[in-house]
Amino acid sequence: MPPLRPLGQTNLHVTPIAMGCWPISGVTSVDVTREASLATVAAAYDAGINFFDTAYCYGYEGESEQMVGEVLRPHRDKVVIATKGGIHWGPDRKQVRDGRPETLLKECDESLRRLGTDYIDLYYLHGPDPETPVGKSAEAMARLLASGKIRAAGVSNLSTIAQYEEFHSVCPITADQPHYNMLQREIEAERLPWCRAHNVSVNVYWPLMKGMLAGKLRRDHVWDPKDGRQKYPIFVGQEWDRNHDFVDRLRPIAERAGRTVGQLAVAWTIQRPGITAALCGAKRPEQIEEIAAAMTWTLTAEDLAEIDAAIRDRGEVASRPAV
Ligand SMILES: NC(=O)c1ccc[n+]([C@@H]2O[C@H](COP(=O)([O-])OP(=O)(O)OC[C@H]3O[C@@H](n4cnc5c(N)ncnc54)[C@H](OP(=O)(O)O)[C@@H]3O)[C@@H](O)[C@H]2O)c1
Repeated sequence: MPPLRPLGQTNLHVTPIAMGCWPISGVTSVDVTREASLATVAAAYDAGINFFDTAYCYGYEGESEQMVGEVLRPHRDKVVIATKGGIHWGPDRKQVRDGRPETLLKECDESLRRLGTDYIDLYYLHGPDPETPVGKSAEAMARLLASGKIRAAGVSNLSTIAQYEEFHSVCPITADQPHYNMLQREIEAERLPWCRAHNVSVNVYWPLMKGMLAGKLRRDHVWDPKDGRQKYPIFVGQEWDRNHDFVDRLRPIAERAGRTVGQLAVAWTIQRPGITAALCGAKRPEQIEEIAAAMTWTLTAEDLAEIDAAIRDRGEVASRPAV
């Protein structure tokens, strides 16, 4: 197993791969079963992953937090559980951002109950609430830290560096959670340098570009109507073709090392300077077992040069935020 990485300035240490527990909520992924979801969380732990990423809104009724809690309860002192507050489902099943302090305090208590634990290792503000200054949300996070209900505070989906500064001046940020992968690298301009300068961990979502970089979606894939990915431009038309061309460039690099494209995409991500962990979503044990093996692969200079050339030829992909 690779060495654990420190989480910001805390004494918490995490594996460079975390299990992303959004797919098991079944909100936008297809063919999700409770049995397979529980088995996937257990498989991640058995594969050596100690870091789990969920959220208050993962599942209309908090199913993801409940399942994570159920499986990991016997191993509580050996795992780092991250969850998030500040987004919930409205009656019309649309996401609502609510970062008011009283809401965050209430949601944190509900997350603790669902997880069946008396502390959360890392609690993120899931996204800024346009009606509530992030400094106000940070006040609630500071109270949660002081009460011991959370061990560290994080942010996700902030829009400006000014928001980081505002939050950080009220409550120390231990970790940021932006999206990042081989083709979506906007954070390298400002956010990543800010985090590195402030010793803030960067735990990235979409390392597999929502499955595109797992290398198993065929060009003629027929989307299930419930699959939420069709609304993202990366899966449509010319972008879809160009992303497949890119994956085809990665394939021989992975194959000559006896590895898979998904492992390549994740190994690349966790080797990037300033990245603490890649949050890898899965809904089946074999998916996370495959991806977990990327923790033991160090890409060579030759691999990296070829990957850089493929990325350059593909060009950066326009992103659309998750929330
Ligand atoms: N803070 C935020 O706002 C935010 C937003 C998004 C995500 N996140 C977090 O980040 C995590 C990662 O994001 P994500 O789950 O959306 O995307 P991701 O990790 O880039 O991709 C996950 C998808 O890739 C496919 N996959 C994974 N392993 C595979 C394998 N071995 N073989 C083939 N396909 C494989 C699965 O899709 P299929 O099997 O369905 O094809 C899976 O649902 C989330 O689970 C969540 O914890 C946070």
